[in-house]
Amino acid sequence: MSLTSVQIEIVKTTWKTVEAAPEDAGEAILLRFLEKYPHNQQYFPFRNTPLKEVKGSAMFRRHAGKVVEVFQKAVDAFNTTDPVATLVEIWTAIAQTHFKRKIQPKSFDELKEVVLEILTEACKLNDEQKTAWSLTLDIIFGIILNELATLSSQ
Ligand code: HEM
Repeated sequence: MSLTSVQIEIVKTTWKTVEAAPEDAGEAILLRFLEKYPHNQQYFPFRNTPLKEVKGSAMFRRHAGKVVEVFQKAVDAFNTTDPVATLVEIWTAIAQTHFKRKIQPKSFDELKEVVLEILTEACKLNDEQKTAWSLTLDIIFGIILNELATLSSQ
C-alpha cells in the first residue's frame, strides 16, 4: 500500500464529515456524476426519467446510500490487520456485480473524478488531504479496473 500512516489518518479523520450525513454525500456524488456524465444514467432503473425528477427519490437515494456504505467499509478496512486484502475483497466484489451490468471502465474513471471533487468540497480538503484521498482512490479504482480487465479477458 502506498499510503503513509499520516495519510491513512487523514482519510479516516476527513471521512467523519461524510459519516455524519452519508446519504447527503452519496446523493451529491451521484447527482454530479449523472449531470457531468449523463450517459451513465442509461444503466439505472430511472434511465428514462429527467434527472431533476429523479433527485430525492427513494431509488436515487438507495444507490447513493449504497455507494457511501461501500466507501465506509473501505475506510474501516484501514483498521483491519490486513487492509490491502480487505480492500481487494470489497472492491473486487463491486467490479464483479457491475461487470454483469456491463458498466465500462470509463464510467468508473468518471465516478472516481467526481468522488474526489465532492469530497474536496464537502470536507473542505486542503492539498495534503486531497493527495491522501487521491492516492486512496487510485488504490480502490485500481483494484476495480484490474478486476474488470480480468473479467473481460475471460
Ligand atoms: C465506487 C464505485 C461504486 C460503488 C461502491 C457502487 C455500489 C453499488 C452497490 C453496493 C450496488 C447494489 C448492490 C449491487 O448490485 O452491487 C450498486 C448497484 C448499481 N450500480 Fe453501483 N457502485 C459503484 C459504481 C457504479 C458506476 C460507475 C455505475 C455506472 C453507471 C454504477 C451503476 C449501478 C447500477 C445501475 C446499479 C443497480 C441499481 C438498481 O438496480 O437499483 N455503479 N452499486
